[in-house]
Amino acid sequence: MNGASQLQLHSSNPAKCINFATQNMSTKTINILAIESSCDETSAAVIRDGKVLSNQIATQQVHERYGGVVPELASRVHMQNIVPVVDAAIKDAGIDKNDITAVAFTQSPGLIGSLLVGACFAKAFAQALDVPLIAVHHMQAHVLAHFIDSQPEFPFLCLTVSGGHTQIVLCRDYLDMEVIGETIDDAAGEAFDKVAKMLGLPYPGGPLVDKYANEGNPLAFKFPMSEMKEYQFSFSGIKTSVLYFLQAQKKIDPDFVEHHMKDICASVQYTIINMLMGKLKKAAKELNIKHIGIAGGVSANSGLRRALKEAGEKHGWQVYIPKFEYCTDNAAMIGITGYYKYLKGAFADLSVSPSARAVW
Ligand code: KG4
Ligand code: ZN
Repeated sequence: MNGASQLQLHSSNPAKCINFATQNMSTKTINILAIESSCDETSAAVIRDGKVLSNQIATQQVHERYGGVVPELASRVHMQNIVPVVDAAIKDAGIDKNDITAVAFTQSPGLIGSLLVGACFAKAFAQALDVPLIAVHHMQAHVLAHFIDSQPEFPFLCLTVSGGHTQIVLCRDYLDMEVIGETIDDAAGEAFDKVAKMLGLPYPGGPLVDKYANEGNPLAFKFPMSEMKEYQFSFSGIKTSVLYFLQAQKKIDPDFVEHHMKDICASVQYTIINMLMGKLKKAAKELNIKHIGIAGGVSANSGLRRALKEAGEKHGWQVYIPKFEYCTDNAAMIGITGYYKYLKGAFADLSVSPSARAVW
């Protein structure tokens, strides 16, 4: 018998779940407390009837000196941050904790130690308040972040680009999503961060590449674009070609990076965006979908945002670009997903466990 099946206490009491479903569905105001702790941001939000009342995010600076997220440090900092961050979110929302209708948390995917902190906290909080618990898929939440301030029509196509994922998601309804294409190796955000590291930029490098790219020539250097089947992506090739390119150039000019930082960033960004947009356009055309969005940390990239707007004008798409605070990891997106799951009565059992890998 494994740990989960030994602990059937809560699942063995379905009456309680049914009770939540009926009791709270009739409540007029739905206040979801949401918790996000999948990677290196500790975030808590309160969502009332699908609208954001508060969204507190504590970014962990500790990883910068290591050039990437150190999982154990991330878990420890979540432990330190979670209580003050949740407290701040509840205060900022102007509600009392007893007004909370349900607690939503990120169940997967992510760093397991980080997820465990949020999951344990959410379970304890839900149990203490005697309210339902809602388990949220982080990547679905990135997609549903679009429904915080707008209402894309279904079917809706979303390019979700983050530090760990690159996916084209077909959304038929709020909770009916299908990943129709994804990366077979590195994620687009990872490619941005790894190239930034080669250029000597601090972690996370994506925003800095974006900043330099805005002042550089995207056609200064040519990097190969991967040719993948269907709607698949691959970003490991560009990383390697930038590495070899820099090694060769530095033999000629040891200060090549300093002299050409803006042009290198602009050229790398241009190549990554072309790969992303190429597949998105193919999917939109073949599936005949006109409501198209971008989501995840890389959707904060100014070049990608511009490219989506231009494609929208050219192809007659209605485009959706999230506000900056809803691009990178945040609990508001967990809350909006929690809200739609609440409306469906999709509650988690208290035996629910986080998972590093995501199952859709
Ligand atoms: O969604 P997110 O906050 O965390 C994950 O779930 O991974 O995405 C983080 C990723 C990092 O790779 C970061 O460098 C990238 O998003 N990113 C950017 C920009 N802002 C964040 N990449 C390119 N341009 C940006 N402006
Ligand atoms: Zn994310």
